[in-house]
Amino acid sequence: MPKLALTVNQRAVVLDVPLEASLLHLLRNDLGLNGPKYGCGLGSCGACTVHIDGVAARACVIPAHGVKERSITTLEGLGSRENWHPVQAAFEEAQAAQCGYCLNGMVMQAAALLAREPEPSEARIRSELSGNFCRCGTHVEIMAAVARAAELMSDAKGVT
Ligand code: FES
Repeated sequence: MPKLALTVNQRAVVLDVPLEASLLHLLRNDLGLNGPKYGCGLGSCGACTVHIDGVAARACVIPAHGVKERSITTLEGLGSRENWHPVQAAFEEAQAAQCGYCLNGMVMQAAALLAREPEPSEARIRSELSGNFCRCGTHVEIMAAVARAAELMSDAKGVT
């Protein structure tokens, strides 16, 4: 099996990975990172979203060897129980989860958006999350959570 070197959640990793393995398979099966979820497996639902060099991407359709020497961030690397990322804190505050299966994708997609656009309009948030499916129907709470996360991040920047 060919070796693959990459960075996952700021940790250098070298693994023997089959050529046909997806990034999602590598993260979940080889590294035990279960934040990214397997939903459709077709790049359509967003449940598997991670960041590749800070950009949101669908791990289920990206070959693991396609991210050689890139930096991957999963939900586990975004924040911690002791120090949540503002998006995670806002989702908790807004109670924006029912079953929670879509949550990884919603949070990772929203975090990537806010990193490049700190003050997105409601229409912009809606468009950014339009490819992330929630079958429980918590869209109203999710929209509120992303708007709240933008506020939290703006407040944090104001603190010196
Ligand atoms: Fe990857 Fe649905 S599981 S987009």
